[in-house]
Amino acid sequence: MTCIEDLREMARARVPKPFFDYAEAGSYAQETLRANREDLSAIKLRQRVMVNVADRSLSTTILGSFASLPLVLAPIGSCGMQWGDGEILAARAAEEANIPFTLSTMSICSIEDVAAATTRPFWFQLYVMKDRGFMRELIQRAKAASCSAMVLTLDLQVLGQRHCDIRNGMTVPLRPNLRNVWEVATRPAWAMSVLRGRRKTFGNLAGHVKGMESVNSLAQWTSQQFDPSLNWKDLDWIRAEWPGKLVLKGILDPEDARQAVAAGAQAVVVSNHGGRQLDGAPSSISMLPKVVEAVGSQTEVLFDGGVRSGQDIMRALALGAKSCLIGRSYVYGLGAAGQAGVTRALDILRGELDVSMALTGVHNVQDIDGRVLATS
Ligand code: FNR
Repeated sequence: MTCIEDLREMARARVPKPFFDYAEAGSYAQETLRANREDLSAIKLRQRVMVNVADRSLSTTILGSFASLPLVLAPIGSCGMQWGDGEILAARAAEEANIPFTLSTMSICSIEDVAAATTRPFWFQLYVMKDRGFMRELIQRAKAASCSAMVLTLDLQVLGQRHCDIRNGMTVPLRPNLRNVWEVATRPAWAMSVLRGRRKTFGNLAGHVKGMESVNSLAQWTSQQFDPSLNWKDLDWIRAEWPGKLVLKGILDPEDARQAVAAGAQAVVVSNHGGRQLDGAPSSISMLPKVVEAVGSQTEVLFDGGVRSGQDIMRALALGAKSCLIGRSYVYGLGAAGQAGVTRALDILRGELDVSMALTGVHNVQDIDGRVLATS
């Protein structure tokens, strides 16, 4: 397993198609999904020679805490369907690597499951739902679990459609039609891992949300629960409930970035949800410099969307990101080999970033800026 693409291929072989496709896909015609990758690889790095780069450091701070790499594991819904107990395995890999892990509201393992299985505080990602009482409850549970930051995702007030999820009949647990039974039966290692896992459905919601058991797809449930009335005023009460560190995720526009700063966010994540929401939106990387300019120096700018290599991390840092979130890059590792696969993904990215620093003449990851970019 020498690169993220290898992990992806292995995950494709080991994870049933409905779950692999769910992780892989973007919304509608997947234009934004593709743009995320294409625009990153179009950025050329500046090769430098005869710089003494014998001592290199990849460590940094993220929201004021030490991190061994400028990386955060992004929130991933149904992560525990890529591999049994997937959220716990990913959180442990992040803990070992000394970087933050973010647990999704729509995780399979619950906040309490992950807290009990790890020692390092993790970040909790919150979706704003119509049931504000339940949201308050989730915030309290995140506080009780000593979560060190709240990531509020703003770009899913309605759900973008992924065609493959409809075609595959993607549900959690999987609908037992003939094709899905075959998919699971031919992937025994995955089946055993999920069978042995603590939970088979959304751990944070089970037993808390009325009507969840009666709907037959995640998309249906999401469309009933997620709140399209969400607006900046809602941040006042969320802020009152959660006085801790707040990260606003899904900022792609400089005007929204200024609002996020005014709302008191400690960080924003420049993100289009990995190309899974507004298809036709620009790539995250193309909007990063504009958001950086709008935000100023008080608020950290984090970045996600299409990061598949250490070179990509360098590109985002060069354009002003403080750190990157990765989604699919670690999900592929998880599907390929559980916790060891996530660790492998992180090792691959670390190695590539380290070599890229050496070959661009940079000693310290915190010094990466526009000087590492080639101007033709
Ligand atoms: C996501 N993403 C996401 N974001 C979020 O805030 N809450 C969530 O529950 C999820 N769920 C989710 C599932 C899957 C399978 C994917 C691929 C993505 C978006 C995620 O946090 C992140 O923004 C993107 O994954 C970044 O793009 P890359 O790194 O996957 O290209």
